[in-house]
Amino acid sequence: MTKVVHIRTHANIALIKYWGKRDEKLFLPTKSSVAVNVQELSTTTSMSLKNETVDEVSLEGSSDKKLIEPIIEFLNKARGHLGITTRFSVTSRNHFPTASGLASSASGFSALALGISSLCNLDLSKQEISILARLGSGSASRSVYGGWVLWHRGTLASGSDSFAEQIASSDWWPELRIVVITTTREKKTTPSRTGMQESMNSSSLYPAWIARSEDRLQNLLVALKEKDLGRLGSLTEEEWLDMHDVMLSTHPSLNYWSETSYSIMRQIKKLRITNGLPIFITTDAGPHVKVICLADSVPLIREVLKPVPGIIDIIESRVAGDPEIHSIDE
Ligand code: PMV
Repeated sequence: MTKVVHIRTHANIALIKYWGKRDEKLFLPTKSSVAVNVQELSTTTSMSLKNETVDEVSLEGSSDKKLIEPIIEFLNKARGHLGITTRFSVTSRNHFPTASGLASSASGFSALALGISSLCNLDLSKQEISILARLGSGSASRSVYGGWVLWHRGTLASGSDSFAEQIASSDWWPELRIVVITTTREKKTTPSRTGMQESMNSSSLYPAWIARSEDRLQNLLVALKEKDLGRLGSLTEEEWLDMHDVMLSTHPSLNYWSETSYSIMRQIKKLRITNGLPIFITTDAGPHVKVICLADSVPLIREVLKPVPGIIDIIESRVAGDPEIHSIDE
């Protein structure tokens, strides 16, 4: 009998962004961030222990060396971090309807961290699992929970105080929706890992953004507590546009938006102004547009986006619940 752990995790979308590391090896951020986990963007991963000297990994049904390299790299890092030598068998799939290019690293690495903890009976706390996931990609530290999450920047060089915690569960705001409008199946040209370091090292706007961010984060936490979507949305957009300005002022300049992204943003803003609806935009290191709104705004959003060319999919999602973990003897 082999113990197999099946895990489902979700990607998250940041309202207060992470863009830049003060320690590249440990993935320690220059600022704290706040995100919401997205029910419809999930990853399922199955893991078991392997009595051999190498890991066996399959991603999207393929064991192509280049594709699975980041997973092997993470497993090596995790072994070093935890002081274990165990090898693993890993099968992972992303369930992101039609489009690729969405942040699969968050759901992917958080699933691995949860799986390792469960298989190796390490009795890790949720904070320790968040730290472990962070070693795969920064945003993965936020996907070991469901609901709304805050990733603390931390100050220690060891990174032991840089972990995420849940600040509100998935049922805190039942009417809230995240609409993900996908616009490409292509991989991004500059990966976030390199883009953020270029911004940190060369954008003259970067220090001012970091300085403003903590206050904005605290205000956003209050808006979330009060379920004040107008306030939460304004802060989300201020933060998003600050990050975009930082990207544009990076050398060489980074602009992740496409013609389709601009058209979507124009339509969403028009809808907000003409109908007075609380609908707010954010984007990340790619051309997809994410909208934060209430459930009753979604049909109108679909309607105004009908004439926009280049949209691949409009994914309406609730806030994701906690990751699911099942352990089975097979
Ligand atoms: O952790 P990464 O490499 O997926 O970086 C995430 C960067 C952004 O998505 C742009 C912002 C964020 O906080 O998620």
